[in-house]
Amino acid sequence: MVSVAVTVQQTARPAPAKEVVSCSGRQTYHDDMAKILYTEAVISQRVAELGRQIAQDYQGKAPLVLGVLKGSFMFFSDLVRAIEPCPRGLTLDFIRASSYGSGTESTGEVKLKADLKLEKVEGRHVLLVEDIVDTALTITTVSRYLLEECGAASVATATLLDKHERRKLVYRPEYVGFLCPNEFVVGYGLDFNEEYRTIPYIGVLKPECYSHLGIEAPEPDGSGESSDE
Ligand code: PRP
Repeated sequence: MVSVAVTVQQTARPAPAKEVVSCSGRQTYHDDMAKILYTEAVISQRVAELGRQIAQDYQGKAPLVLGVLKGSFMFFSDLVRAIEPCPRGLTLDFIRASSYGSGTESTGEVKLKADLKLEKVEGRHVLLVEDIVDTALTITTVSRYLLEECGAASVATATLLDKHERRKLVYRPEYVGFLCPNEFVVGYGLDFNEEYRTIPYIGVLKPECYSHLGIEAPEPDGSGESSDE
C-alpha cells in the first residue's frame, strides 16, 4: 500500500484581474469586426434548410454525424437539431483535427485525434460537419481516414462555409451553407488565435487585429455570396 501525503498550500490572495482588451485595444470582440458577413438570422435560416435536406437524404440510413472539432461546435449543435424529421439510428460523435498553427495559413500537416471505436464507424454512413472547407486538406484527410481505416460505408460533408477559391485539393462538399469570399472570417466557431469563436455571426476581422503580427489581409477574389442584412 502506498500512501500519499497531500499538502494544500494556502496561496496568496490573487492580484486583481487585469482589464482584458482585444488585440486592437478595444473592449469587445464585436468592436474588432470590419463587417458582418452572415448574420445570425441568415445563418439560422440556411442551417434550417440544410437540416431539412439532410433529413430527407439520410432517411433509412442511420447516419453517424461526426463533428470536426473545434471549429464546427456551434454549427454542429444547430445543424443536428435542424435535421428534422430525424432519421432513426442517427448517432453523434466528434473527431479533433487541426492544421492551422497560430497563423492563417494551413501548416499542411493535419493532426487527427479521435477515440472513435472502429465498430462505431464500420459500415456507417458518415456525415462530417465542418465550419469551413478552405484548402480541403483537413476534410480530405478525415474522409480518407474514415473510409480507408475505419471502413465507413460512405462519407459526405456538411460545411457552413466553403472558401472554394483557396482549394489545394479537389473537394466538393455535399452540403454547403455559403460560398465564402476570401476574407479573414471569424465567429460562429471560427477563431483567430483561439479567440472570437463564440461570436454568434460570421464577421470579417479588421486588418489592424492581425497586421501587427506580420499577417497580411487576404486578397479578396470577388467570389462568394454575402448577406446584405
Ligand atoms: C479549421 C477548420 C477546418 C479547417 C479547414 O480548423 O475548422 O477544420 O481549418 O481548413 P483546410 O480546408 O485548409 O484544411 P483548424 O485547423 O484551424 O482547427 P480548429 O477547428 O480547432 O479551429
